[in-house]
Amino acid sequence: MMKMGPLTIVLAITGMAILLVAPFSCKGKKGEPIPTMEGIAKMDIQRQPFGNLPDGSQVELFTLTNSHGLKARIMNYGATVISLDVPDRNGQRGDIVLGHDSLEGYLSPAQNPYFGSIVGRYGNRIARGRFILDGVEYQLATNIGPNHLHGGLKGFDKVLWTSEPVQEEGAVGVKLRYLSPDGEEGYPGNLTVTVIYWLTDEDELKIAYEAESDKPTPVNLTHHSYFNLAGQGQGDVLGHELMLNADYFTPVDEELIPTGEIRPVAGTPWDFTKPKPIGAEIAAVPGGYDHNFVLRGETGTLKLAARVHEPSTGRVMEIYTTEPGVQFYSGNFLDGTITGKGGKVYQKHFGFCLETQHFPDSPNHPHFPSTILRPGQKYTSLTIHKFSISS
Ligand code: GLA
Repeated sequence: MMKMGPLTIVLAITGMAILLVAPFSCKGKKGEPIPTMEGIAKMDIQRQPFGNLPDGSQVELFTLTNSHGLKARIMNYGATVISLDVPDRNGQRGDIVLGHDSLEGYLSPAQNPYFGSIVGRYGNRIARGRFILDGVEYQLATNIGPNHLHGGLKGFDKVLWTSEPVQEEGAVGVKLRYLSPDGEEGYPGNLTVTVIYWLTDEDELKIAYEAESDKPTPVNLTHHSYFNLAGQGQGDVLGHELMLNADYFTPVDEELIPTGEIRPVAGTPWDFTKPKPIGAEIAAVPGGYDHNFVLRGETGTLKLAARVHEPSTGRVMEIYTTEPGVQFYSGNFLDGTITGKGGKVYQKHFGFCLETQHFPDSPNHPHFPSTILRPGQKYTSLTIHKFSISS
């Protein structure tokens, strides 16, 4: 339990003030800062081995902690967040992402639907794995029926990245690099990718992406954590209250490929402009939510994309991004066949993903924001997950 001190009293008063003005001033349950945790003096970063791949190469695990008790464990296989501990309103830490205790679970395709990984070279689907760029038709690997998903048979989630710890004022991190060779999964160009995960003392998990290519290529990188703010394995996420800062979404066909339409959310189950439980209207969405939402604001400018509040624990997660879209996926394909951390069985809707990104299948929809990176240009993208607690 948290001891009552001057800081707690100030927080309580601030909390009351927020409660008083909340109905008039904010969209969704805004949180308050997480208090400093006793016994944790400063930010820290640890590096240790985390098993070996079948070819013998060693996987490394980085443990990042901040002074408020947040802890992120990240491995360089798939640039994967394997756990994320965040205090609740009572100061109890809980791991809020789905995943596995050991490397073995991540290496089994049936047990790992992109848990916590970096997805690339192209997040989400490309119809028939085909696109035309500068008059040349490219055929990518197809790995979901006749279509291409999340980079193909061996996407960035299934490769070993080089890794090193990094540190700056108020933040500890891990820098990951991968060179995706020309022709990999059918993509043109040698693509050098750098991703830095930062854990800050402002209670943020920041993901900064950069990429450069020696030939024109589509690029659409994202992060694929499955969140459950009540704690991983603690039931479904249908009671989480979600706000999405999006007036439009991109409807899909039966293979989950965008039709090209950009449709207003108003008056539909896709309207999350005011917070509502994820489960409120999910029954009216065939298969559950698995859609790209078009974010308000400028591409390339950091803006609020989403706010999620879990009422029983008081955990709040806000997502800010420079990307034009966010894929909201309500864990529809989880079906109890995966046993994850601590022996927890992941049933349908036990986690949700908010994948900040460009729109799926953009290379085949010229009116969607372009995903083409050309030699001499630099791809940059930033997404911030900010954690707080509601009283
Ligand atoms: C993404 C997709 C979903 C599904 C999951 C992984 O979120 O949008 O359709 O493929 O990844 O299972």
